[in-house]
Amino acid sequence: MGRSSLRQIDKLAYERLLGETAETMTTSKITVIGCGNMGRSLVGGLIADGRPASSLCAADPDAAQRQRMQSQFWIEVVADNDAALEGADVVIFAVKPQSMKAVVSAAAPRLRELRPLILSIAAGIRLHDIGRWLGADLSLVRAMPNTPALIRAGATALCAAANVSAAQRDEAEQIVRAVGSALWIDDENLLDVVTALSGSGPAYFFLLMETLEKAAAELGLPAEQARVLTLETALGAARMALAGDSDPAELRRQVTSKGGTTEAAMRVLERAGLARAFGDALRAASQRAAELARTYGAE
Ligand SMILES: NC(=O)c1ccc[n+]([C@@H]2O[C@H](COP(=O)([O-])OP(=O)(O)OC[C@H]3O[C@@H](n4cnc5c(N)ncnc54)[C@H](OP(=O)(O)O)[C@@H]3O)[C@@H](O)[C@H]2O)c1
Repeated sequence: MGRSSLRQIDKLAYERLLGETAETMTTSKITVIGCGNMGRSLVGGLIADGRPASSLCAADPDAAQRQRMQSQFWIEVVADNDAALEGADVVIFAVKPQSMKAVVSAAAPRLRELRPLILSIAAGIRLHDIGRWLGADLSLVRAMPNTPALIRAGATALCAAANVSAAQRDEAEQIVRAVGSALWIDDENLLDVVTALSGSGPAYFFLLMETLEKAAAELGLPAEQARVLTLETALGAARMALAGDSDPAELRRQVTSKGGTTEAAMRVLERAGLARAFGDALRAASQRAAELARTYGAE
């Protein structure tokens, strides 16, 4: 992807952050299979974006999960996946990778009749394998969102099967844009890297916040003040990086004056091998996504 399309994504994400976008959405029926963390994040984001609750339906075998989704968002939530599929224009599979084969195969007969646009957010599971379980050439898009989708600050990468039309790509993009920024990936293998970067990414930043907060508290700053300063700094840095013309490396250099406090901190982080640790972490997460595909996809 070229630098210009990256800029466009950055701009959209930034405008959304500032609450400046006013996109209108169509009201096709969307069914979400799985009411866990991501299912709820997506439904929450779509509702916050103005989609009527009556156009959304969700299914989950677990009564507690259904109750949570229902009481939080007041949408129709059912135990039976086939019932949820009725009249669906778009079906989103938001179940664990290990459940995908069973859930998709069970829904396949009804999906072959309805022929909705199908979105899978399951980490690792390939378009080819989902298509095999569906047993027909249905319109399939894989999306890799992340949990900030709940507050419409998600980052999602999408990858479409070859038979997905331009209109269907638009529809899939419109759905995920309701919960944050979106970009398309042509090479499906790169979705494993996306999974490692932005899918798991919120956890890396939370860990960083947690660690900084704790370190400041240990140096004597009251815990509450340490939290506020940590979070505001994280938000400010992200906004600067999204809004500015400079890339993060340049922004970092601008804060790091020679012989100053930041330089002292950076030296310690460099000696501790932070860059290598993040490289190894992303590699491990990416390999795990590929492993999930092999383990749960190749049956
Ligand atoms: N969490 C993330 O940050 C993240 C980010 C990007 C993508 N993803 C992907 O999103 C997917 C969902 O993740 P999650 O964190 O939301 O998992 P989760 O919290 O475990 O949610 C999955 C839900 O699906 C339900 N389920 C199981 N079998 C089902 C069936 N036959 N029909 C309908 N629902 C069924 C589960 O119920 P039970 O609890 O009863 O099994 C659970 O409520 C995963 O494939 C993951 O790879 C997650």
